[in-house]
Amino acid sequence: MTTEVSDKAVKCEARGHVLVATVDNPPVNALSHAVRSGLVDAVEQLEASPSLRALVIVCRGKTFIAGADLREFGKPLQEPRLGVVIDRLDRCGKPIVAALHGTALGGGLEVALACSYRVASPTARMGLPEVKLGLLPGSGGTVRLPRLIGVEAALTMISEGGQIDAGAARDQGLVDAMIEGDLTDGAVAFAEKVVSDGGSVRRVSDLPVPAFDPGILAAKRTELARKFKGFSAPQLAVDLIEAMTKTPFAEAAAHEYDVCKTLIASPQSRALRHLFAAEREALKIDGVTPETKPRDIAKVAVVGPGTMGRGITVCLLNAGLPVVLVGRDDETLSAGVEAIRRTFDSSVKRGSMQQADADARLARLTPTVDYAPLADCDLAIEAVTEDLGVKCEVFRRLEAALPERAIIATNTSFLDIEALADSISRPERVAGMHFFNPANIMKLLENVRGSRTSTDVLATTTALGKRLGKVPVMVGRSEGFVANRMLSKRSREAQFLLEDGASPQQVDRVLAGFGFPIGPFALADLAGIDVMCAARAARFARMTKREQECDIVDKLKAAGRLGQKNGAGYYRYGEDRKAQHDPAVDTILEAHRAQRGRDRRDISDQEILERCLYAMINEAARILDEGAAARPGDIDVIWTNGFGWPTYFGGPMFYADQIGLPKVKDALDHYSRLVGDEYFKPARLIERCVAEGRGFYG
Ligand code: COA
Repeated sequence: MTTEVSDKAVKCEARGHVLVATVDNPPVNALSHAVRSGLVDAVEQLEASPSLRALVIVCRGKTFIAGADLREFGKPLQEPRLGVVIDRLDRCGKPIVAALHGTALGGGLEVALACSYRVASPTARMGLPEVKLGLLPGSGGTVRLPRLIGVEAALTMISEGGQIDAGAARDQGLVDAMIEGDLTDGAVAFAEKVVSDGGSVRRVSDLPVPAFDPGILAAKRTELARKFKGFSAPQLAVDLIEAMTKTPFAEAAAHEYDVCKTLIASPQSRALRHLFAAEREALKIDGVTPETKPRDIAKVAVVGPGTMGRGITVCLLNAGLPVVLVGRDDETLSAGVEAIRRTFDSSVKRGSMQQADADARLARLTPTVDYAPLADCDLAIEAVTEDLGVKCEVFRRLEAALPERAIIATNTSFLDIEALADSISRPERVAGMHFFNPANIMKLLENVRGSRTSTDVLATTTALGKRLGKVPVMVGRSEGFVANRMLSKRSREAQFLLEDGASPQQVDRVLAGFGFPIGPFALADLAGIDVMCAARAARFARMTKREQECDIVDKLKAAGRLGQKNGAGYYRYGEDRKAQHDPAVDTILEAHRAQRGRDRRDISDQEILERCLYAMINEAARILDEGAAARPGDIDVIWTNGFGWPTYFGGPMFYADQIGLPKVKDALDHYSRLVGDEYFKPARLIERCVAEGRGFYG
């Protein structure tokens, strides 16, 4: 017998004495209104029927309930709210069994915690990831989980938002039984056994708070302050756990709900939720429909065993793909292979990889100096020197060697993808895959669409990006694409600020204080002053006169200061590699200002922040206006995953909207007068938005 309860999101079916409530709310069975009311109805049906003795809650599709429905946030709350559903489950006079598979997360795990028993598929995972969205559990998670698995284990799960697998969950007492085979059948059998054993109800809310060492709270606060610098929710998690250990259950639960409600409205949570949605939205590519099938990628060629080629190769090998690595000559090729081997060796030494895994990855690598082994590759990524002529020649050789179906991708950072596509006969097979150094570590992948790239190629580079564990974002034709083009504006302002009177340590302090992991000058020292000089030389002809004359990096290089690698750059470095102020740099800067006739003035922290950030935001607006990025969210995803824009500020476009575009425009006008119109003239899109009274996001 199948009876629909209140809505098809939860279907109820009696199996003997056991009522089975199946949640069916694709894609992740989130706790939408229909699911919440369906669960309450299921409990009521159970209690109303004398013949029904237990309830099993199970989910269809790929996962158990993965949390609150994020799409309902910001809309008027429709009762019953989750806390009411959870109370109803908790108060039920008959046992309820939650049957977990996939990822039981957030409100999903809170539902399970309010049941008498939890059973799980061996592959199930559990977590309270709210903290990652700037939130904390608001429906009993912080008051029930510590009672069940202990204060310390719960504190870690709640304050860091990680997941545990079913095995660990069983060991910790979160899961009562593991179900091999069909989960519903297993859960029903479990429930029948509970009934035949007397049908006892077990309430987590009745359990005492287990004893714990109070010292773990302070230790966790210190650890979280380091790991999650700038984030509020992790610290609040410790406060909540501390409070629950001292307060009766109902009072602690009410307090938890109040904290969660406050967090939902907090700027950090809004920013983090925005990024969660933007990352998923970024996967939706204009022209790519659900019917567009990505091509199969079973074997990949990487051309160029330099720094980028090596990182890309490691990344592909890590994802299980066989790779043909093409070098110009034996010497560069074997240096590349050696470097790849060293990368795996250090993973083994660190304990993050087994030797057998490292061996298997290297066994999938075919180094070659000729193109013949490319005959069965599905994709080639060229990562040779940034020279159009050299790259076009590689493209022609790739076209001759690869099967016709294969995609030809370039890792160029600033060359014109159209010119590369023109060098071969079928430009629709050409795309950009712009990795960031170190390519095996950096999450961002700027996939580039040419004007003629076919949609299945776009779908393929996106799918491959996901498979490599990257955050792929599709961008269009534009010099430097999105990340580097915006970075170059920040770098320009950082240099100009030195000329105007700021010090490297002041600029770095301000930008690190904003939340970037590292300031621009410490970053330049890390990358190498010689590398900065080479990048400057490559752009020199396209620079303004002031930029050309602002040659501080060249002066550092001339003074033998190459950055961290030789212990001196913008800073001086001792054994501990910590950046120290170096008066010799002050002297170089003073001499530079005198040479350029620039008077030193005191620069405020506000001016540093605004010039660096607004120069980027202004450029981002141009990028958006030109269509080189499809939506503001793509730019936010790029900068939070690429160059460490603090996620709690949601990315540059979200941040600009929070500041308010009229205020941003006023500041741009001010710096146009102060620094120059060619650097700060507000982008047309900003002018338009201000005139129309809207932000980048409407
Ligand atoms: N509410 C509403 N929609 C959600 C959702 C939620 N809690 N979690 C995921 N979705 C949607 C995604 O937006 C995506 O929609 P789209 O296909 O229209 O873009 C779809 O479900 C699939 O999500 P995705 O993340 O792409 O799938 P995945 O298989 O890689 O990961 C999860 C699945 C559940 C692990 C992941 O989505 C996740 O971590 N969700 C958030 C869980 C959470 O934080 N819960 C607590 C909320 S307070």
